[in-house]
Amino acid sequence: DTPALLDRFGRTARDLRISITEKCSLRCTYCMPEEGLPAVPRDVLLTPAEIGRLAGIAHHRLGVQEVRFTGGEPLMRADLAAILAATRAAAPGMAIALTTNGIGLDRRLAALLEAGLDRVNISLDTVDREHFARLTRRDRLPAVLDGIRAARAAGLEPVKVNAVLMRETLDGAGDLLAWAIEAGVHLRFIEQMPLDADGVWSRESLVGAAELLEVLSARFALEPIGRPDDPSSPAEEWRVAGTSATVGVIASVTRSFCRDCDRTRLTAEGSVRSCLFGDDETPLAPLLRGGADDEAIAAAWRTAMWGKQAGHGMDAAGFTRPVRSMGAIGG
Ligand code: GTP
Ligand code: 5AD
Ligand code: SF4
Repeated sequence: DTPALLDRFGRTARDLRISITEKCSLRCTYCMPEEGLPAVPRDVLLTPAEIGRLAGIAHHRLGVQEVRFTGGEPLMRADLAAILAATRAAAPGMAIALTTNGIGLDRRLAALLEAGLDRVNISLDTVDREHFARLTRRDRLPAVLDGIRAARAAGLEPVKVNAVLMRETLDGAGDLLAWAIEAGVHLRFIEQMPLDADGVWSRESLVGAAELLEVLSARFALEPIGRPDDPSSPAEEWRVAGTSATVGVIASVTRSFCRDCDRTRLTAEGSVRSCLFGDDETPLAPLLRGGADDEAIAAAWRTAMWGKQAGHGMDAAGFTRPVRSMGAIGG
């Protein structure tokens, strides 16, 4: 009987994504400009206690079941374990996940697990060191692989690896899948969205799911298994014959899943962002810091989600890309 987070299009948000910083240890071309993003002032960033409170409101008053911390790179916050602990304390029944580039995860993982972390998704586009350095503008592939190994060694299951599909990584997609099978991680390819900081994305140059499947099928026998867990899961899955591995594709552009979207987002400054592509944000910080009670915050959140747009609208006439890039919204 908790009033859920509904929108005008009949969708219910159960999945909360909180961006906790715009900082990152990499500079992936599809996400961040070379110089990084303007820093959010320290006193504007939500504190662990504030994040815990908002997560608790989302879980207890709005029916949210899972929270995922993103960035930027969430490991850039030294107080990440405190953020997870505050979230765990406020919402013991909620699943807590992290989307990270993996750098430094090996050193931090034990503390994060202790604080309440349940799952990790790690971003990696290529296992070729030189190519990795070009794509991310940083020579850090070994550190990422250390992070992935640590997640596996800690027994996290599944460890998902996200790879953004690009013209220049398509040739290496088979090698990445072969590596993933060997490493025991679950690989998912993601169609690139117009969320790069430099504005170079174009629909014409997009590498879509269909093209990827052609490339992978030349080397692996893939058996379709659809969307296994739930309809709002963004990935379609294939079994790799002769192995215990599966591979997924998140076809956000060519097979949009906006109709089943179950996401609500908070920015690092504490504003509700109802859609990745909707630039209208609803600041909760003034309520949070102005003495509002939990129900008033929940009410503002519900109003924000009611205004959620139908979808990204990439194929509609007059589509304009969001002002903020992925690094500022939190994939
Ligand atoms: P799981 O719960 O493990 O399936 O995680 P997830 O797929 O929700 O999270 P992850 O952070 O790994 O996101 C994978 C990719 O899906 C992101 O990098 C985005 O490219 C894409 N994605 C996430 N949220 C949205 C969204 O709301 N809309 C669209 N179009 N794409 C999204
Ligand atoms: N399009 C699709 N996915 C993106 N990511 C970052 N930028 C983009 C983009 N423009 C992915 C990262 C990471 C997740 C947080 O978002 O690779 O897996
Ligand atoms: Fe950093 Fe992730 Fe963006 Fe890469 S995709 S620059 S790792 S926030």
